[in-house]
Amino acid sequence: MQKGALLYEGKAKQVFATDDPALLVQRFKDDATAFDGAKKSSITDKGIVNNAISSHMLALLEKGGVRTHFVEQLNDREMLIKALDMILVEVVMRNVAAGSICKRYGIEEGITFDEPILELYYKSDPHHDPLMNAEHVAAFSLCSAEQLQEIGNTARRVNELMKEFFHSIGITLVDFKLEFGLAGGLIHLGDEISPDTCRLWDLKTGKKLDKDRFRFDLGDVEGAYQEMLGRVMAASDGA
Ligand code: TMP
Ligand code: ASP
Repeated sequence: MQKGALLYEGKAKQVFATDDPALLVQRFKDDATAFDGAKKSSITDKGIVNNAISSHMLALLEKGGVRTHFVEQLNDREMLIKALDMILVEVVMRNVAAGSICKRYGIEEGITFDEPILELYYKSDPHHDPLMNAEHVAAFSLCSAEQLQEIGNTARRVNELMKEFFHSIGITLVDFKLEFGLAGGLIHLGDEISPDTCRLWDLKTGKKLDKDRFRFDLGDVEGAYQEMLGRVMAASDGA
């Protein structure tokens, strides 16, 4: 496999072509942004941590029967992925109240929901990824009703698998964001699963071990990413 041209550069990742049009290289950067890029900095070795954790999580989900874009981890910052036609819907699953749901509805942080809440957001930076529902998805032709159904079912399955895994390493999975796309006409889970895209709280102390440390200047950002890497890798060594 030969790495080719840079095809796309986002806030936290780059995507490169390969000599196989069905495969791409996803490279994780240390750059960190929040609030639609309004806050910008970098977190030392974040790219290494997020590549390792994403590789572990995507492989774990594949094992659990979830179709993902993950092929293999190539090196410390890169993974080989299937090329997807991305669906412009971001799916957020929430087990515990935190972040925008608290602000939007005035609920207290830390309340555990009886059932996980699934939210849909329109993936559009210029519009600040607004909250939307299934009728918007249909009206804007973002995907079919059947595809959205499958995406919702997959997100719920991902939540169950991830909740169990994180619990086993002493972490409460508060919430997370997923993105999906199509390859060969089939829905695949894409993007990344990392402390950038999940809220992860220590089960005992409640310490936040995710990007909220950067978003809200809580300090020890690098330490939190390294702590998550250590716990995930210790679990994979034992597997
Ligand atoms: P929110 O509470 O800010 O809506 O975030 C919900 C989850 O989605 C949280 O785990 C962080 C993640 N997320 C992203 O991955 N990308 C984003 O751009 C935002 C706003 C949140
Ligand atoms: N990644 C998003 C941004 O840069 C937001 C976030 O993760 O808070 O705006």
